[in-house]
Amino acid sequence: MLTQTKAKARGLADLPPVASDSLLALIALCDADPRPEKIDVGVGVFRDAVGNTPILKVMKEAEQRLLDTQVTKAYLGSAGDKRFAELLRPILLGHHAGDKRILGLQTPGGCGALRLGFELIATVNPQARVLVGTPTWPNHPPIIRSVRLQQIDYPYYERGQGAIRFEDMITALENGEPGDVALLHGCCHNPTGADLSEEQWREVVRVVSERGLLPLIDIAYQGFGRGLDEDAYGVRLMLDACDEVIIAQSCDKNFSVYRDRVGSLWIKTAAVDSSKTAMAHVHQRAREMWSMPPDHGAAAVHIILDDEELSARWLVELAAMRDRINSVRQRIAAADPRLTFIGRQFGMFSMLPLSKEQVLKLRHDDAIYMADSGRFNVVGLGDDQIDRFTAAVIGALNS
Ligand code: LMR
Repeated sequence: MLTQTKAKARGLADLPPVASDSLLALIALCDADPRPEKIDVGVGVFRDAVGNTPILKVMKEAEQRLLDTQVTKAYLGSAGDKRFAELLRPILLGHHAGDKRILGLQTPGGCGALRLGFELIATVNPQARVLVGTPTWPNHPPIIRSVRLQQIDYPYYERGQGAIRFEDMITALENGEPGDVALLHGCCHNPTGADLSEEQWREVVRVVSERGLLPLIDIAYQGFGRGLDEDAYGVRLMLDACDEVIIAQSCDKNFSVYRDRVGSLWIKTAAVDSSKTAMAHVHQRAREMWSMPPDHGAAAVHIILDDEELSARWLVELAAMRDRINSVRQRIAAADPRLTFIGRQFGMFSMLPLSKEQVLKLRHDDAIYMADSGRFNVVGLGDDQIDRFTAAVIGALNS
């Protein structure tokens, strides 16, 4: 008689190794480099002319007010700070702010909003495929995988030319099935900086709505490109044309509160009732994952946006960040004809036409830390680092 042997139960020690997140690993690598002249153009944080990521003055003041006036830290619920979301509405939605079919809630950063949006899609339509222009933010694919949706890639960007492969993009969207998801970058494309023009947005919106695709727009850098309204052009146009839209928004960059994790998710459906039902699912998922979002950063943003004077000062500080980004772009672009494309792009990132070997050589020889893909954070450069950076990049391009 055969004796049945029980398979040994797998324990935590049986877990396979996991490749570390490339951008987070780059922070650690750069931190560990003792060379004082090192240049960190890896992870996407704004830096000023002397290389600091300061807390905005208006944010410091709002935080002080919060400290002085907050009387409780009792639970707020899975929607987080409702007034925060209400105050964001006009900034993000513009002329759609009054549309009661669009509902939003606070999330832990834009990443939390993305995860929640994809959770909702996987709940309603697990067969949906997600059409993704590549390259994209390296955390998009893991988030899509985490909800077990299939990802279909199409080429978005021609690195050598610094240009969008717009025809490929349109063909891929035209090949989508109704219900498939079009994941789009609202502005300041990460990692390429190559944003759709208004004319291109109109074409994308036409195809998305005609094909019955579900647009999920990731807008993490509103105000860093051309301006708050200009950067929301695609979001608002999509809302003009489509009954169903999902938007994942972040305040982490435009309020410079990165580690506080401040974002929001917005859902539009064809009717108020169905939006409320969709939102009930979103709340349930949020409850399962983080129960409720962290309060501090959103509470401070709430204080700023609820106060005319503080809001006006935020706009000035935001414009100063945008101006710095664009002026560093112009300086790099002026250094070599092969870099002029950088001056035509928007937001914190551009992607250099360098091989991984060239990127690693810059890291080794020149202590310049950029992502393996050749993505670099334009505004990671202090003013006194720009010339050394461009000289090293030009050297690499010549090699
Ligand atoms: C980046 O792309 O560098 C930022 O969005 C930070 C991150 O979380 O990856």
